[in-house]
Amino acid sequence: MAKKVIKRSWAEPFKIKMVEPIKMLNREQREKAAKEAGYNTFLMRSEDVYIDLLTDSGTNAMSDYQWAGMMLGDEAYAGSKNFYNLWDNVKKYYGMPYFVPTHQGRAAEHMVSKIMIKPGDYIPGNMYFTTTRLHQELAGATFVDVIIDEAHDPQNKHPFKGNIDLNKLEDLFKKVGAKKVPYVSMAGPVNMAGGQPFSMKNLNETAALCKKYKVKLWFDATRATENDYFVKLRE
Ligand SMILES: Cc1ncc(COP(=O)(O)O)c(C=O)c1O
Repeated sequence: MAKKVIKRSWAEPFKIKMVEPIKMLNREQREKAAKEAGYNTFLMRSEDVYIDLLTDSGTNAMSDYQWAGMMLGDEAYAGSKNFYNLWDNVKKYYGMPYFVPTHQGRAAEHMVSKIMIKPGDYIPGNMYFTTTRLHQELAGATFVDVIIDEAHDPQNKHPFKGNIDLNKLEDLFKKVGAKKVPYVSMAGPVNMAGGQPFSMKNLNETAALCKKYKVKLWFDATRATENDYFVKLRE
């Protein structure tokens, strides 16, 4: 039997059910608003911003299934129905026996950092994400950038600028002692490098090096699917 071909149109495959009015300031008003905020985007009023690119975190629309899920769940303080729903799916798709839900990634970073880091430790990373590094440093660690040099050159066309430089990582293990490194912090695609991915080869080699020095490898999977896409395209 012939395979059913689903034709995708150029239009978005969803309907928008709700709208939120926004206003557009004219140039003079925008200049005034920016000046009043001291040219600091964190100090601006969101109602003065027509297109907000400060973050995508928790700001996007929810699907009808997500809203329905909220209605079908309950608001119990502990053991709510949706907790078990989420847990079942985490087990099904990720195979992890334990999980702790948090309201946002930064809360998870806080917990991991508090549990894993002792003051005076070192945390190597393939560059860093702002709140990730903040929580590591608040817990008393020193962040060490072990990303490959190419990541710091915006003109460089290296296909995996999120890769860890294994020599830099091993040098750190030798210099400070692996016992001072509770884990290596790896994320991709790398925010601070403009969304650059790491390769599976590099991930495997990093994992092998960590194993050799008995250091844990901590993976921030925020954009794992986007990293996977680059792996499919380029590796
Ligand atoms: C790599 C990475 N880690 C952690 C976070 C923090 O997540 P949240 O904004 O949900 O606190 C982000 C946010 O974009 C991120 O990109």
